[in-house]
Order: sequence, then C-alpha cells, then structure tokens
Amino acid sequence: MATQARAAICNGNSEPFKIEDVELAELRPDELRIRVVACGICHTDMAVRDQQLPVPLPVVLGHEGAGIVEEVGDAVTSAKVGDRVIMSFNSCGHCPSCEIEAPTYCYNFFPHNWSGGRPDGSATVLKNGDKMNANFFGQSSFATHAIAHDRNVVKVPDKAKDLPLERLAPVGCGLMTGAGAVLNSMKVRAGLPVAVVGVGTVGMAAIMAAKIAGADPIIAVDMNETRLEMAKELGATHTFNAKDDAMGKIKDLLPQGLGYAFDTTGINKVIQDLFGLLAPMGIVGMVGASDPADMLKFNESEFMGGGRRVMGILGGDSDLQHFLPQLIEYHMNGQFPFDKLIGYFPFEDINEAFEASESGKVVKPVLRISEEA
Ligand SMILES: NC(=O)c1ccc[n+]([C@@H]2O[C@H](COP(=O)([O-])OP(=O)(O)OC[C@H]3O[C@@H](n4cnc5c(N)ncnc54)[C@H](O)[C@@H]3O)[C@@H](O)[C@H]2O)c1
Ligand SMILES: [Zn+2]
Ligand SMILES: [Zn+2]
Repeated sequence: MATQARAAICNGNSEPFKIEDVELAELRPDELRIRVVACGICHTDMAVRDQQLPVPLPVVLGHEGAGIVEEVGDAVTSAKVGDRVIMSFNSCGHCPSCEIEAPTYCYNFFPHNWSGGRPDGSATVLKNGDKMNANFFGQSSFATHAIAHDRNVVKVPDKAKDLPLERLAPVGCGLMTGAGAVLNSMKVRAGLPVAVVGVGTVGMAAIMAAKIAGADPIIAVDMNETRLEMAKELGATHTFNAKDDAMGKIKDLLPQGLGYAFDTTGINKVIQDLFGLLAPMGIVGMVGASDPADMLKFNESEFMGGGRRVMGILGGDSDLQHFLPQLIEYHMNGQFPFDKLIGYFPFEDINEAFEASESGKVVKPVLRISEEA
C-alpha cells in the first residue's frame, strides 16, 4: 500500500520550497522506508535548485537524512525495522568502482542519485498519482518519509545510541566529504602543511580531519570572519581572509609550498592559484560545484616536473559502511566536534534554513522533521 507523506517540493530558484502531500511508492526488495527524523541542508541542494546540476525539476531534494526504519524489502541486509539509520548517496554495487569499494565513483552514479527516479525511470514518490521527481541521492529526505536503498543506508552503531539522529544527519554528505577528502582521498601525511579554502561544512570537516591526521600547519581561508574564528576553534593554526591576499600570505608562510590544498569553492581561479602554491608531490583536492562550462588551466611542466596532482573528489571517497561509523567514533572521542556547526530549524522553516546557509549565518542547517522517540 502506498504511504502518505509530506515533502518539500523544489521548483527552482524563482519560488520558495512548498511542503505538500505526496505518496511513497511500494517498496522493492532492496529498499527501505524510513521515517525521517532530521535532514541536513547541503550546498548541493542549492546547486540543484539553481540548476547547476542536471537533476529534473520539480523535485524533492534532501540528501542528509536520518531516521527510523519503518519497513524493509525482503533482500535488505543493512538495517531492520526499528533501527536508527543515516542515509547517504546510492550506488549500483556491480560496476568497476563499486567492485573495489569506491562507490562514490560508481559508473552508474547519475541514474542512482540524480535522475529523479529509480534507474529504470520508475517513481519512488508520487503526487496525485503522477510521478514526482525524487530518489535524490537515493533518498529525497526533505520529507516526512523516504524510500532508501540497501546500499545507501547505514545503521547507527549501538554504542552511539545516546547521540540524537538530528545531530548525526549531516554525517551522510558534507561532513564525510570534507573528512574523507583529507583522510581517504588525499591521505594527508602528519607534519605536512594543508590549506583549506572555503570553510563551510565541507571545509570545516576537512580542518577537523587535518588535525586528526596531524597536518601542520593547518590553514583556513574564507571571506567570513566568523567562520574563520570557528575554523581556529576546530583546528586551524592559521586563518587568512580571502579578500586580503590569502594566497600571498600562504606563499610567505610556506616558501617550500603546500603539501595539500583543498578547495571547496569550485572557483577556477582559486583552484589554479592553489596549484601554483603546491610543493613537489603536492595535491590539490577539489570538491566544489562549478559552472558546467568552467575549465582549468595549469602549467604543464610544473604539473609533471614536481609530480603534482589535481584530484577531483566526490563524497570523500567514503565507503559508507566503514567510514560513517568511523566518523561517529571520532565524534564520540571528541576529535570531530561537528555539532558546533549545526543550527536547527523546524521543517516548515525550510526556506529560512536555506537563507541562513546562503547568508553564511549558519554553517550547517538541519531540519527537524519528526520526533525521534
Ligand atoms: N564533491 C562532493 O562530493 C561534494 C559533497 C558536498 C558538497 N559539495 C560541494 O562543496 C561545496 C562546499 O559545500 P558546503 O556545504 O561546505 O558549502 P558552504 O556554502 O557552506 O561553504 C562554502 C564556503 O566557501 C566560502 N567562499 C566562497 N567563495 C570563496 C572564495 N573565493 N575564497 C574563500 N572562500 C570562499 C564561503 O564563504 C563559504 O564559507 C559546494 O559547492 C557543494 O556543492 C561537494
Ligand atoms: Zn551534499
Ligand atoms: Zn557502481
């Protein structure tokens, strides 16, 4: 039987989100129905709203959901009814990337996450009996209920039973991306310098992870002074304002160059400048959404001669079932205090929550959608 739900519908950036009645489709054997307790807002939701990413509109967004499992299909092994779970991105499970547990680079990422439906085109969410674009990152969690999949659901470990789901929700995208970029993708080495440009959720997670990795110095760059202050609290040893020749200051501080530069802005000039600051074997990791037409330009002999690397990173190379529990463990040990980034909003205030993120007032807005208990 179809499940009734309420979902925030995105019609692009010319209209606010509207919360409306929808129905969830019947579960397939590898799917789970989740009662959503909370969902973080990530910049990628805005990128879709603004049509920087080719997800069809109107659509139910939301890809940092956490909730309680209400029903599972026969083939589901990741969780059972009543479990507390975090949702993340989905993947196919059988392509060359999935085979080596690199699901963020799934060859079938688009149909499983961004096509607006299941890979076969069918709907997970209906409105008045018609298909509504959803299944965003295999979930669409700006809703009271979501259909998720065996591969993108992670059960919250029992030892984290005292941590509220509303705090854990953002672990499934922004936080794992920043932390994973440092720990999994670039594999930052202790004692080497790191610069993080753009300290929103992704950048702040990278700063905390750089501290875990023992990087030194850890440089944060942003235009927002409050965020730079927070980056210092979370582990940055130096903070530079992007409006005040940050690149020149990095060069003065580190004449030998950066071991690692992590860009979350997606601005090609920033990425190119960072490339010019790399030490031999240095890596620029990039995660920011950019204009689809943007191109990058690097000096060929510097690229080859110093063994420098430019690395596109998706989802922080996270292997969900292993890395998400690891991040929760870091949090419980006090090494990953991401709760300092969160501001909570009632579901009905979704438009205010987006605004708070875009104005820079709140680093990580989280929508409270239903009571956990
Ligand atoms: N690749 C991935 O897997 C992945 C995952 C999550 C998010 N993202 C993308 O990563 C980016 C960051 O996400 P977020 O949620 O942290 O966003 P955010 O908006 O919270 O943070 C971006 C930060 O960059 C700063 N900034 C903007 N221009 C700058 C400049 N020229 N110099 C220095 N700082 C500047 C802003 O002040 C802000 O603090 C977004 O583009 C998002 O779409 C990618
Ligand atoms: Zn995201
Ligand atoms: Zn795959």
